[in-house]
Amino acid sequence: MSATLIDGKATARESNARVAAAAAELKARHGLVPGLTVVLVGENPASKVYVASKEREAKAAGMHSTAHRLPENATQAELLALIARLNADPAVHGILVQLPLPKQIDANAVIEALDPAKDVDGFHTVNTGRLWSTGGGLVPCTPQGCMLLLSRALPRAAGAHAVVLGRSIIVGKPVAALLLGADCTVTLAHSKSRDLPAICRGADILVAAVGRPEMVRGHWIKPGAVVIDVGINRMSDGKLVGDVAFAEASGVAGAITPVPGGVGPMTIACLLRNTLVAACRQRSLPQPVL
Ligand code: GUN
Repeated sequence: MSATLIDGKATARESNARVAAAAAELKARHGLVPGLTVVLVGENPASKVYVASKEREAKAAGMHSTAHRLPENATQAELLALIARLNADPAVHGILVQLPLPKQIDANAVIEALDPAKDVDGFHTVNTGRLWSTGGGLVPCTPQGCMLLLSRALPRAAGAHAVVLGRSIIVGKPVAALLLGADCTVTLAHSKSRDLPAICRGADILVAAVGRPEMVRGHWIKPGAVVIDVGINRMSDGKLVGDVAFAEASGVAGAITPVPGGVGPMTIACLLRNTLVAACRQRSLPQPVL
């Protein structure tokens, strides 16, 4: 092992402490308590765990944290009615609808029904449009977390060649936009790309977000590269592994995120940052420096 470990747990803890301090100050100075509401439809076991963590961590940061749980057979109209109520509620500054949604509900229609100012996932087309154009919208949480971890390992990323593996709306596309915004030269590669190992070997920064256990091997990595592994894959023995073969990669990379304890903890940390930012904007207050 020669690579430096990029510690997501410690980075998330530090970020959460700064968010909690900023939230306490907002309350003391302006009587503003940032409010996050998480909506869960159905019984997806992983989603239940995520929603409980989001609820708990928002509370721990001093936010007003609520959750709405709808049954598996809830209709799209019921969910849209709930979103309309939350959009109109001044105590709710951030709304997160946990994905995936049951098959009778069109996730796109639900996301587009959110008030973009409260869309703390950053998935509404107003926010994705801002991300790719002028900036200033709410930035998706996992990509934001990737960038915070990258900045620890590589404070000056300008001019670096960044390769993103995976083109999802949740990670691949937005992280590519953020890397471009950080003046990297960006390659967005995916399952149809030819010769992925060769593309990856050209990367000074490699972000793997494909959801395929240990697909990226040690010989795919440029010596000294920074590797950000977004994958969280549960194996049949219960073990969690990333999209990168960690033991091999850590012998080649300059810095690498572990799984678990890398990108994972950063997602909720960035959700709390977004909730704070959304609350300040809705009250026309300056954004705290985090
Ligand atoms: N399901 C998996 N990742 C996410 C995420 O970032 N946001 C939401 N809302 N659902 C998810």
